[in-house]
Amino acid sequence: MKLLAVNGSPRKTMNTGLLLEKIVEGAASEGAAADGSALHPNGEHGTIKQMMNGVGSVKVASTVLAVFMLTAFIVMGSDAFATEDKGQKSEVGMQEVHDFMKSCGQYFLATVDGDQPKVRPFGTVAIYDGKLYIQTGKKKDVFKQMARNPKIEICAYDGKGKWVRIQAVAVNDDRREAKQFMLDSYPELKKMYSADDNNSQVLFLKDVKARFHTFTGESRTVEF
Ligand SMILES: Cc1cc2nc3c(=O)[nH]c(=O)nc-3n(C[C@H](O)[C@H](O)[C@H](O)COP(=O)(O)O)c2cc1C
Repeated sequence: MKLLAVNGSPRKTMNTGLLLEKIVEGAASEGAAADGSALHPNGEHGTIKQMMNGVGSVKVASTVLAVFMLTAFIVMGSDAFATEDKGQKSEVGMQEVHDFMKSCGQYFLATVDGDQPKVRPFGTVAIYDGKLYIQTGKKKDVFKQMARNPKIEICAYDGKGKWVRIQAVAVNDDRREAKQFMLDSYPELKKMYSADDNNSQVLFLKDVKARFHTFTGESRTVEF
């Protein structure tokens, strides 16, 4: 976030300037790129006074300062909200993507095999330890392809006019508890896999960009 501090006082280093300096320091310590340059059109003292048609320079300085402080407050405040919002969005977004994938029942997972895209149906999806996971077998080509190039794309359609396309990087998680969690989420998988079989593998998705689409042309991106 960039802030421009405007000093309307003709006396750069007096009260208004000192106050501005403090505000700029404060804004910078909160991470804003703040510039406290004094504004002196034509390099003349009192120019703002003239521009304001006879309003006292002290009044002008106070007004400008007040406007700046309000702006700084709003900007810094909105920044803080934005950060909080991002955090919430990310969790809410992951849950939304998870719930949507689940509601579709199955999805299609695309990998890259050299210069050839490969796509197949998948169904496993779960949130574990704050991340979105899928499950596969190490013996499968899909796993070998993700090991060579972890970039994947997923597409799920709900059969009712809404779909999501998810771009992500698949990351192996070798933790036994993560594998067990997935098997417990999909008990039917226990016929084929166990957490200790050296085949079952779970992967979480990172750098996720999930774009929801509808036939009416609406689209929205969720990132986490
Ligand atoms: C509805 C459905 C869901 C599936 N879900 C998964 C899954 O979550 N994980 C998996 O490894 N295979 C799953 N499969 C099986 C894979 O599609 C299949 O093993 C495929 O051949 C794997 O791709 P590959 O041949 O490129 O390795 C599913 C199949 C279907 C029909």
